[in-house]
Amino acid sequence: MGRGQRAGSDAVLRVDSRRHYRSIVRGEGIYLYDSEGNRYIDASGGPILCNLGHGIAEMAEALAEQAKKIAFVYRSDFTTPALEEAARKICELTGFAMKKVFLVSGGSEANEIAVKIARRFHLERGEGSKYKVISRWLSYHGMTQGALAWSGMPTRRRDYVPMLKDDAHIPPAYCYRCWFGLEPSRCDLQCARALEHEILCQGPENVAAFIAEPISGMSLCGAHPRADYFRLVREICDEHGVLLVLDEVMTGFGRTGKWFAYEHFGIIPDILTLGKGLGGGYFPVGAVAISEKVAKAIEDGTGIFSPGYSWAGNPLGAAVISRAIDYLKEKGLVERAQKMGRYLGARLKEELSPHPTVGDIRGLGLMWGVEFVKDKVTKEPLDPKLKFHQRVAHRALDMGLFIESSGGCERGKAGDMVMFGPPFIVTEDEIDQMIELFERALTHEEEMLTAQEGP
Ligand SMILES: Cc1ncc(COP(=O)(O)O)c(C=O)c1O
Repeated sequence: MGRGQRAGSDAVLRVDSRRHYRSIVRGEGIYLYDSEGNRYIDASGGPILCNLGHGIAEMAEALAEQAKKIAFVYRSDFTTPALEEAARKICELTGFAMKKVFLVSGGSEANEIAVKIARRFHLERGEGSKYKVISRWLSYHGMTQGALAWSGMPTRRRDYVPMLKDDAHIPPAYCYRCWFGLEPSRCDLQCARALEHEILCQGPENVAAFIAEPISGMSLCGAHPRADYFRLVREICDEHGVLLVLDEVMTGFGRTGKWFAYEHFGIIPDILTLGKGLGGGYFPVGAVAISEKVAKAIEDGTGIFSPGYSWAGNPLGAAVISRAIDYLKEKGLVERAQKMGRYLGARLKEELSPHPTVGDIRGLGLMWGVEFVKDKVTKEPLDPKLKFHQRVAHRALDMGLFIESSGGCERGKAGDMVMFGPPFIVTEDEIDQMIELFERALTHEEEMLTAQEGP
């Protein structure tokens, strides 16, 4: 059997039940190996998650050592040295801008808890009318009911909208297709000012929090606002007593070349959510870190924050987080993400810009998105029926390159993107290999498009 053959069991409910899935049996560095001995470059670290690289024995050992000591105790009644250590280390990485940490098992859970903490904060201060959450269109905060409601990604929300309790969404910070028709060099940050309009319309006395990704994940693949966007957002939130929650589930822990993406913007959030790379890619973990202002409101008030999940604060996740932090530090991988990110961005621009379908290349650190269009001048998207992003990604996989793709950036109706987000250990030579394979896949699909269109 070659690449693309059906993996053994059919008892799995798959993303696409008509597709054949390769069975991955091992990983090493940036490479994945399937049961047929084929090798794939993991150009996206899974869904921008495997930050450290595959097959690191120390990470597996950290998990095994903790499991032998104690695999689980319930956080309502006990604590563990592993939990204390992981929480302290996360706070330390923020320079103690964050004072307390609540560990969960993933990004969606982190956002659910973050919003409950925001509500708790207002309740403690006697502001019981504050409960609404404002977020942005073309954002993604997770698949649980609350997180999906705050997400503004029409393609992922569509089928579930009748089940969601919806708050409010404001326009995204999406300079390539600015919803206000402006250029970043000549705008007055209308996308940030929209937050104030929305707070005023909802009534500041009703708004608990604003949640946003500092650099967009799969909904806009690497799009980021002008450098002063979050300073204005911070001011607006402070003015109206609204907590600023930054969702760094994808961007946190070095992905953008700094420990946290908020550092690029010169602001500090009230609440920070983490996931994905927090455990390096070795265990399902997430975290909510809160500033002194938020922690103090709870401590000086009832002192109680009871919501949570059975597995919250478990020592296995905590041990993996601590080891991942040490590993990132020992190997200087955050600095490396910055350096390799500069190389990746420059090489992508050099090699892909001339392609007829490449409309925009954007990103920061080791998080770079490519957006495809039908017309580079008008930015008209490709026909969504073509599923161009999937076709390119599937072609790349056939050639030995895994890349994460996404659609719907043009208001959910159309738009094709891919995201490069390799593990931080990637070398320049491996980046060159990645781009070469990707370019071959893209060229092939572009030729197919031309052939389809005919003379
Ligand atoms: C920015 C962001 N927030 C939240 C989530 C949800 O995290 P999880 O899939 O771990 O629940 C994701 C996942 O893609 C994400 O990219």
